[in-house]
Amino acid sequence: MQILNRFLIIALSLTIVLGKKRTYNKYNPSDSEIEKDAQTAKTSHQTSNVSGKAFNRYVVIWLENTNFDKAAENSDMEWLSKEGITLDNYWGLTHPSEPNYLASVGGDYFGLDNDGFISLPSNVSTIVDLLESKNITWGEYQEDMPYTGYNGNEYKNHHLFSNDYVRKHNPLTLYESVNKNSNRIQNIKNFTTFKYDLENELLPQWNFITPNMTNDGHDSNINVASSWSRNFLEPLLKNDYFMKDTLILLTFDENENYFIKNRVFALLLGGSIPNDKKGTIDHTFYEHYSGLSTVEVNWDLPNLGRHDVDANVFDIVANKLGIQNKDVDTTYKANNKPYVGYFNDDSIDLPAPNVNAKGKNGLGVLDSISSVWAEEYSKQVSNSYFTSTTTTVSISLGDATTTSS
Ligand SMILES: *[C@@H]1O[C@H](CO)[C@@H](O)[C@H](O)[C@H]1NC(C)=O
Ligand SMILES: *[C@@H]1O[C@H](CO)[C@@H](O)[C@H](O)[C@H]1NC(C)=O
Ligand SMILES: *[C@@H]1O[C@H](CO)[C@@H](O)[C@H](O)[C@H]1NC(C)=O
Ligand SMILES: *[C@@H]1O[C@H](CO)[C@@H](O)[C@H](O)[C@H]1NC(C)=O
Ligand SMILES: *[C@@H]1O[C@H](CO)[C@@H](O)[C@H](O)[C@H]1NC(C)=O
Repeated sequence: MQILNRFLIIALSLTIVLGKKRTYNKYNPSDSEIEKDAQTAKTSHQTSNVSGKAFNRYVVIWLENTNFDKAAENSDMEWLSKEGITLDNYWGLTHPSEPNYLASVGGDYFGLDNDGFISLPSNVSTIVDLLESKNITWGEYQEDMPYTGYNGNEYKNHHLFSNDYVRKHNPLTLYESVNKNSNRIQNIKNFTTFKYDLENELLPQWNFITPNMTNDGHDSNINVASSWSRNFLEPLLKNDYFMKDTLILLTFDENENYFIKNRVFALLLGGSIPNDKKGTIDHTFYEHYSGLSTVEVNWDLPNLGRHDVDANVFDIVANKLGIQNKDVDTTYKANNKPYVGYFNDDSIDLPAPNVNAKGKNGLGVLDSISSVWAEEYSKQVSNSYFTSTTTTVSISLGDATTTSS
């Protein structure tokens, strides 16, 4: 084992020396370009009602950069936690922000170790491909994004000149399978549209909500983020249309301290939570991939063949469906450093999804994914260079990150 480790670490060092970060041209349009493009941007307001096994609507809200304890002791979070289930063993995947957002919809962060302007090629699938296979509507609501489908790097507040909307917190826009698809970009909307869709009962069934850089705590603090969350959610928790059969996940992208375990505060809320579960704590191990596996089993969807496949399903859903979650020993787990992969080493190929994977519902990978990737998957499995690279990373990370909180 020792000798093997040494060999693998040498292999890894070699790839670090050979590879460099992938770079992209940052799209940063001027105000007049934005104004012009906003005129022709189309916005979709489609809804659907495909029955799920445990919920009919899923709403994710992400806040920023807060250690578990700091969020848990905040009075607005305490108030919200009485309305739902606290997940006290829920983890961010790495640092900084962007790889976490990226992974939450695609099942991997592909070695991304920065917040830069990046794009995954169109042959990499996301939750969108799975949802659309059953005509389940989906959408994002990004606060202060200047127009629907905007692919610019950011949009600053024009009175305060402060950060406002940022692309790095917009998970689906990081994938060309979304940002280059003229139909799909119509679902990448802002909060003006959220208000409209709510009032007109046109919300999609899968939703990702990102408050602006002040409201999410990034440029402020946990008190601002928590008070924003309570103010946003309190009326919604009384709204029959919004609440009916809804599961809400309120969580954080990552913790604040890069030297401790990357555990974050998370709450499940909404009309699909039975009264006798409100105010309880669930100690099951989850990561951001659990949002994918939970949605997949709820709507009996195929999977992406990535980390969605074996991610624990939120207990409230797993229990109902008779799904067994795995126990995860977190003694040596830290999730505080990215692995070396596609984005931070351009000598590494895109990892193929495991086209033979079976999800927790017994279903396989989405057909369109296996038809694109089957050949590349067999190639990578039989290619020792590729497998040794990935193995090394998990070993050296495990050894290097045993700081505890
Ligand atoms: C969706 O259908 C369910 C019954 O399957 C119904 O109870 C619910 O009110 C419907 N929701 C919407 C938003 O139409
Ligand atoms: C989705 O909608 C399309 C177009 O209306 C229809 O042809 C298809 O059968 C639907 N698929 C499912 C799984 O309902
Ligand atoms: C939100 O997007 C809509 C549709 O593109 C646009 O008309 C509106 O001005 C945007 N709202 C804000 C606050 O930027
Ligand atoms: C963020 O959103 C709030 C409203 O929710 C708004 O008052 C504020 O100007 C926005 N931008 C910044 C940078 O705070
Ligand atoms: C996916 O797309 C990238 C970029 O176009 C390409 O280099 C790669 O070969 C493609 N992989 C497969 C399996 O299609």
